[in-house]
Amino acid sequence: MSNEWINTPVSHLETPCYLYDMDLLRKTLSGISSLANPLNYKVHYALKANSNDRLLQTISQAGFGADCVSGNEIQKALQTGFPPEEIVFAGVGKADWEIDLALDHDIAMFNCESIPEMEVIQERAVKKNKMARIAVRINPEIDAKTHHYITTGIEENKFGINREDLPQVLKACHSLSHIQLRGLHVHIGSQITDLDVFKSLCLRMNEIQDYFRREHLPVEHINVGGGLGLNYEQPEKEPVPDFNAYFNIFKEFLDLHPGQQLHFELGRSVTGQCGKLITKVLYVKEGVNTRFAIVDAGMTELIRPALYQAYHKITTPTSQREPLKYDVVGPICESSDYFGKSIELPELRRGDMLVIHTAGAYGEVMRSNYNLRDHLYFYYSDDLNRFPKI
Ligand code: LLP
Repeated sequence: MSNEWINTPVSHLETPCYLYDMDLLRKTLSGISSLANPLNYKVHYALKANSNDRLLQTISQAGFGADCVSGNEIQKALQTGFPPEEIVFAGVGKADWEIDLALDHDIAMFNCESIPEMEVIQERAVKKNKMARIAVRINPEIDAKTHHYITTGIEENKFGINREDLPQVLKACHSLSHIQLRGLHVHIGSQITDLDVFKSLCLRMNEIQDYFRREHLPVEHINVGGGLGLNYEQPEKEPVPDFNAYFNIFKEFLDLHPGQQLHFELGRSVTGQCGKLITKVLYVKEGVNTRFAIVDAGMTELIRPALYQAYHKITTPTSQREPLKYDVVGPICESSDYFGKSIELPELRRGDMLVIHTAGAYGEVMRSNYNLRDHLYFYYSDDLNRFPKI
């Protein structure tokens, strides 16, 4: 094995592990801020993508708000430095204790997904004698053209309020005394790479906004959710996503009225590229038609390939041998436990390291201890003498 990798202290990394490139995270954050701040856009980082403490502290220090979808995420956001007035609370199934927690901390906003939810928030707010600020999440019926499991803005999804129901929403806003309508919210899906989709979203938002204005309920902010996709195929080409192109679409096509602010809830595009899952080859096994590289990470550490047939680039920093084809699989007792099928890698031997790229979003957070697995390690580039060449 000849490679810089083994000459660096990280050759002794325990595996499986997540390795976070904190410089890349900071570069991504400052890239977003430098574009969003002059336009007065507010970005709430979607904790669901990765709620690792070290990452969250870095993100809150960079001045981002937090988009939470559970009481525990709200608590985590508070613990890692996000001020309550920068926290928004979304989700289709907010439990009473979670609503109470959000009211107790006077968070910025509830993103409401149904009229019954608005009624429950009203009830809890009355009890506490608090005013709840809300944005209503509307289903804009825009197809995000992404994987069907992560499309959220079309009619048959459980998310958001359908446009036909808006008259009832207006009625509720007028009649519920402890609820204040402050914004309109949409989120159409995740891993969106066709930016034209966001243009269609802007045009639809303009129509929806006009409706609220006509009904004398102008809103102070528009929240367009998250969804900007990443380059999973060639992460090295685009370590920082093209936020310029993304924000420009909203600048060009969304009508903002004087005093109105545009909000975003970016998750994947903030943390996705800064995280890599490192795993070690345990065994190479020759099947009848397939050669398996069996590694020490599994769907318990990164479930995206098993759950969405998601592609993650895999490389090896420890082998420069002749390439062969492998199915890279984990140790879990499930046939869906794989990271890549029929992929070409330099010949692998027991002990070789594999790097699974673009694992910083929906990786660590979606892990489980199925099969009672509990060995997972974490490394941060700030703590390492030298970042490995991987
Ligand atoms: N806002 C709302 C209301 C959301 O539902 C989501 C993601 C976001 C913001 C953040 O979207 P992002 O910028 O990360 O695309 N586990 C799946 C992704 C699920 C996304 C759920 N909602 C995956 O691994 O692809």
